Amino acid sequence: MAEKIDQQAINEQARSDEESCRMESKELRRKKRIKCIVLFIIVQIIQTLILSLTVMRVRTPKVRLGTVTFPNLVTGTQFIPYFDLTMMAQIKVKNRNFGPYKFESTNATFTFQGVTVGHVLIPEGKAGFLSTEKVSVTLNMSSNALMPRFSRSLGSELGAGVLTLNSQAKLSGKVTLMLVIKKKRSAQMNCTLAINLSAKTIQDLNCR
Ligand SMILES: *[C@@H]1O[C@H](CO)[C@@H](O)[C@H](O)[C@H]1NC(C)=O
Ligand SMILES: *[C@@H]1O[C@H](CO)[C@@H](O)[C@H](O)[C@H]1NC(C)=O
Ligand SMILES: *[C@@H]1O[C@H](CO)[C@@H](O)[C@H](O)[C@H]1NC(C)=O
Ligand SMILES: *[C@@H]1O[C@H](CO)[C@@H](O)[C@H](O)[C@H]1NC(C)=O
Repeated sequence: MAEKIDQQAINEQARSDEESCRMESKELRRKKRIKCIVLFIIVQIIQTLILSLTVMRVRTPKVRLGTVTFPNLVTGTQFIPYFDLTMMAQIKVKNRNFGPYKFESTNATFTFQGVTVGHVLIPEGKAGFLSTEKVSVTLNMSSNALMPRFSRSLGSELGAGVLTLNSQAKLSGKVTLMLVIKKKRSAQMNCTLAINLSAKTIQDLNCR
C-alpha cells in the first residue's frame, strides 16, 4: 500500500515536472520569437541604411575633357597675334550612380580670357550604370573675336609659347535608380587647358 502511494507520488511529481518544463519552453519560445523580430528589424534598418548610402544615393555626374589633339594649329607671333586651330577632344561624362544618367544635348564653349573663341555641340546621350561615356567632338577655333581688344594679351601668350583656354559646359539630365526613380542632376564642366604651341599638345589640363 505504502509502495503504491509512493509510486503515485512519483508519477504526480513527474507530471508536474513535465508541465513546468512545457511552460518553460513556451516562455522560451516566446522570448526567442521576440529576439528574432528585433533582429529582423535591425537587419532591415541596416539594409535600408546601406542601400541609401550606396545604391540609392544620387551622385552628381562629372564632366571633364579627356584626350585633346590638334590636327591643325596655326599661330602668329607676339607682334602679329592670331590663331586658327582644329581641335579634336574627348568629353568624358563619369556616372558613379547605380543606374544610367541620360543627358540632353548642350553646347561646350571655349573661351580665351572670358571671350568665346569656339563652341561645339555635345549631342544627347547616356552614361550607363557606374561607367564613363566618352563623346568625341571636333571644332574649329580662331582668334577673330579677340581682335583688337585682346591682341596684346594673346601676343604675350604666343610669345611665351603657351595658349591658355577655358572650356565650359553644363549638362542637364536625369539619373534613373531601380528602373523607376528619376532624379534630375546637372553636371558642370569647367576645364583650363594650356596648349604648348611648338609641340602642338596639351601641356596642362585642369578640370574642376
Ligand atoms: C548651340 O549653339 C548653337 C549656336 O550658337 C545654337 O544654335 C544651338 O541652339 C545651341 N544648342 C544648344 C543645345 O544649346
Ligand atoms: C574646320 O575648318 C576646316 C577648314 O579650315 C573645315 O574643312 C572643317 O570642316 C571645319 N570643321 C568643323 C568641325 O567645322
Ligand atoms: C613645349 O613642349 C616642348 C617639347 O615637349 C618643350 O621642349 C617646351 O619647353 C614646351 N614649351 C613650353 C613653353 O613649356
Ligand atoms: C571655372 O573655374 C575657374 C577657376 O579654375 C573659376 O575662376 C571660374 O569661376 C569657374 N567657372 C564656373 C562657371 O564655375
